[in-house]
Amino acid sequence: MTILFPEGFFWGAALSSYQSEGGNINTDWAHWEKEHALEKAAAACDHYNRFKEDFNLARSMHLNSLRLSFEWARVNPEPDVFSSESLQHYNQVVDELLNFKLKPFLTLHHFTNPDWFMKKGGWLNPANIDFFISYVRNIAQALKGKVEYWIVFNEPLVYIYHGYITGIWPPGIRNFGQAKKAMDNILKAYAYSYQEIKQTSSREFQPLVSIAKHIRFFSPCTQGSGLLNCFSSFLRDKYFNINLIEHLKKRKILDYLAINYYCKEYVQFKGIFGRECSHDFHPERRNNVGWYVSPEGFYDTLIRLKRYRLPIFVSENGTAESQEYLYKEYLEAHLQSLARACSKGVDLRGYFWWSLFDNFEWEKGYGPRFGLYEVDYKDFRRYPRPYSSFYADVCKYNKIEV
Ligand code: BGC
Repeated sequence: MTILFPEGFFWGAALSSYQSEGGNINTDWAHWEKEHALEKAAAACDHYNRFKEDFNLARSMHLNSLRLSFEWARVNPEPDVFSSESLQHYNQVVDELLNFKLKPFLTLHHFTNPDWFMKKGGWLNPANIDFFISYVRNIAQALKGKVEYWIVFNEPLVYIYHGYITGIWPPGIRNFGQAKKAMDNILKAYAYSYQEIKQTSSREFQPLVSIAKHIRFFSPCTQGSGLLNCFSSFLRDKYFNINLIEHLKKRKILDYLAINYYCKEYVQFKGIFGRECSHDFHPERRNNVGWYVSPEGFYDTLIRLKRYRLPIFVSENGTAESQEYLYKEYLEAHLQSLARACSKGVDLRGYFWWSLFDNFEWEKGYGPRFGLYEVDYKDFRRYPRPYSSFYADVCKYNKIEV
């Protein structure tokens, strides 16, 4: 059976500045890498210089939208100093997207911060919120009337979890109290940013604002106490998937849902929140970074999100594999779930594959490859992976066989 996606559906790919631009030396991550990382981002994929070629690659695949982020530390290299060169650069980036007929979905914070901001206490210091707001204000004013879809923070809970609980990302803190403080300040920053961006509305142009929310499909581990595993799985779903969406929706500061979905997580009871199951006997296959692949979990997630009555964009979905055929298998199965959810009345408006090309995968370095295009890091050349032609056809014809 063929399922047609809604007319005007946004087909895209997602990128982030630190993972792809290169040369972002003024950030907390660049400093952190000196001592902690497996590999340094360094020149990344040189996207900062090659953005036009990259947009051309996206367009040649029939994409009609692209999600990318701006690097705060470039725009705002010192407190209260805004770089006109960077603002001009990013303005040109957006103009080029529009020239290429690629609808921009703009993220303002994708895990990285200016190093000076962190030296002032970063997200732990409420007095620092104003720095972020003035960055947002500058961008919102500079792009007035050009960008409709804004994502202020990418996966704030993932950022807090790794930066302030597991400590595997900068600032490397492992403390629940501090994690809560940083999260509260990020939420305040989001609420103010929402207002700043909305203030640039005009009769002809209404910007829409959201965050990109990471969602995992939590499922109780089949070993041990079924009841306790269920309880932990329920709590993880509530606290990691749902609460933030409900909170922002209730405050009327969420114009649409942007969802990043990758995998299923089996939950084992260990303390009330449980932990990710350490056994590997579950039936689903795992990808190259060890995540359980679950297109059924994706479908279930989309169906559950219907109740929020907001337009839904899948702002990231993707995989890293060791064998080529597995990319297509993953993509096809997830697009079928997407199509089935559309036909069940879920208000889906767009889908962004992570990522357009291979890039820097945070603490894992350059090993995992998520791209539609493979990058040769010696000369930055991009080569289309075979599965990208399958995606290109879906984007071109706006339909899929299920
Ligand atoms: C993040 C990306 C990351 C991807 C794959 C997402 O949750 O937003 O930055 O590269 O996952 O791990």
